[in-house]
Amino acid sequence: MKNAFDLIIFGGTGDLSMRKIVPSIYRSFQQGDIPNDSRILMCCRKQTDFDNMLKTIETKLKLYLKDGEFTQDKWHSFSMLLTPVQLDVIKFDEKWDIFGQLFDGFTDRIRVFYLAILPSIYGECCENLHKKDLITRVTRVVVEKPIGYDLVSAEAINEKIAKHFVEDQIFRIDHYLGKETVQNLLTLRFGNFLFENLWDSKSIDHIQISITEQVGLEGRAGFYDEIGAMRDMVQNHLLQLLCLIAIDSPNQLSSDALRIEKVKVLQALKPLINGDIEKNTVRGQYVSGLIDGQKVPGYLDELGNYESSTETYAALKVYIENWRWTGVPFYLRTGKRLKKRSAEIIIQFKDVTHNVYDFNANKLKPNQLILKLQPDEKIQMRLMANDVAGGTTRLQPILLNLDFGKEQDAPQATSYQRLIMDAVRGNSTLFIHREEVTAAWQWVDPIVESWKNSDISPELYTAGSWGPKKADELFEKPHQKWHENQ
Ligand code: BG6
Repeated sequence: MKNAFDLIIFGGTGDLSMRKIVPSIYRSFQQGDIPNDSRILMCCRKQTDFDNMLKTIETKLKLYLKDGEFTQDKWHSFSMLLTPVQLDVIKFDEKWDIFGQLFDGFTDRIRVFYLAILPSIYGECCENLHKKDLITRVTRVVVEKPIGYDLVSAEAINEKIAKHFVEDQIFRIDHYLGKETVQNLLTLRFGNFLFENLWDSKSIDHIQISITEQVGLEGRAGFYDEIGAMRDMVQNHLLQLLCLIAIDSPNQLSSDALRIEKVKVLQALKPLINGDIEKNTVRGQYVSGLIDGQKVPGYLDELGNYESSTETYAALKVYIENWRWTGVPFYLRTGKRLKKRSAEIIIQFKDVTHNVYDFNANKLKPNQLILKLQPDEKIQMRLMANDVAGGTTRLQPILLNLDFGKEQDAPQATSYQRLIMDAVRGNSTLFIHREEVTAAWQWVDPIVESWKNSDISPELYTAGSWGPKKADELFEKPHQKWHENQ
């Protein structure tokens, strides 16, 4: 029997809540994971008429859910869970008294406070929850990235939250960790014998982690211009993916055991300092171009500020200094307004040690393990095979394809859905520990700082391309290339 719980969303009608949080909860409800007597408290600063709020939520659900997911019946029962709350998070006035009374008689219930608000006011929000005595032992707080914009600000935010919540009550979301293929990366590594003996510098040539987007600023110009691609994507999503590829096996899949391994990897990242930054990183900014045949404006036009040198693209060559990975380059890349929306990890194995085929047999290509996170969720293995037609040896690369969209019948949980329900259940395995935030900023800060102080402007790239040409020069050896160029 699933227990009822209270989920309280601060920033209830904000963009994140409408786009990701509420559709995810609706899906969990539809799939029977949320008991009917649970409550979802939608807190917003502005006075809102409840009927209007419901209409907005209904419209947004129809917009953001997949075809067929929204039904009038389900919406009717789901809307019964919703309670509107008018509350200014940082103004500790009588509205907080009314808010506090909503929990009278519900003390033993799991309470999840989801802070879909600016990180700069996380501290005050937690302080007010504490003043109203709303933090019980079964209370959890969910916070979003970015946690700060550098180490100092991240420490300050984490410190303020930690004044009122202990670490196992704090759920820092990185939605990439909730993606299906990321889960499967762990299973692939730790549920199979096959790969472990090949998972190191003896067998792996290099690794690519690439998250490319077609979208531009999506109405977040002010926010994005302050942070750029490095802080928005690399500090969190890309480094988290890197960690999961690079960690040693934990002794069990608990959040503590996993965290210890991830922190070890983050601390083993070879620092990029001074001259290394110019050699091992490329930052870019898009100019107007065509995406899927549609003209899109350049970053500065979209922003309306022609002075900005914020990067909308970042590519880096990264090394991990430990026994397993020494000498293996990890190429990371992310950017907006690129040719395709895609997130993938390519693990490229070394060439065979001796080629027994003659030169007419076509060229051998190295094995690759390809983990596709989006748009489709797939794991592929590139092997060489012989095309027997014609009677001669004609080597061809073939792909073994594991397509999660096709192989699994159960509806796939979206990453937010999975993570929100994990927070409700108190399972923090797929969340970010404070030590990881600290270690990631420690590595990222010098790079951002050096870019900020540099006289060199970001490389310009045309929207709809694969980013600055200069990123091709990051590769260490001639046979190494970005996946789309192979
Ligand atoms: C967010 C970033 O964390 O991830 C956005 O802030 C980015 O800038 C988004 O667009 C990408 O997420 P996804 O799941 O669409 O690849």
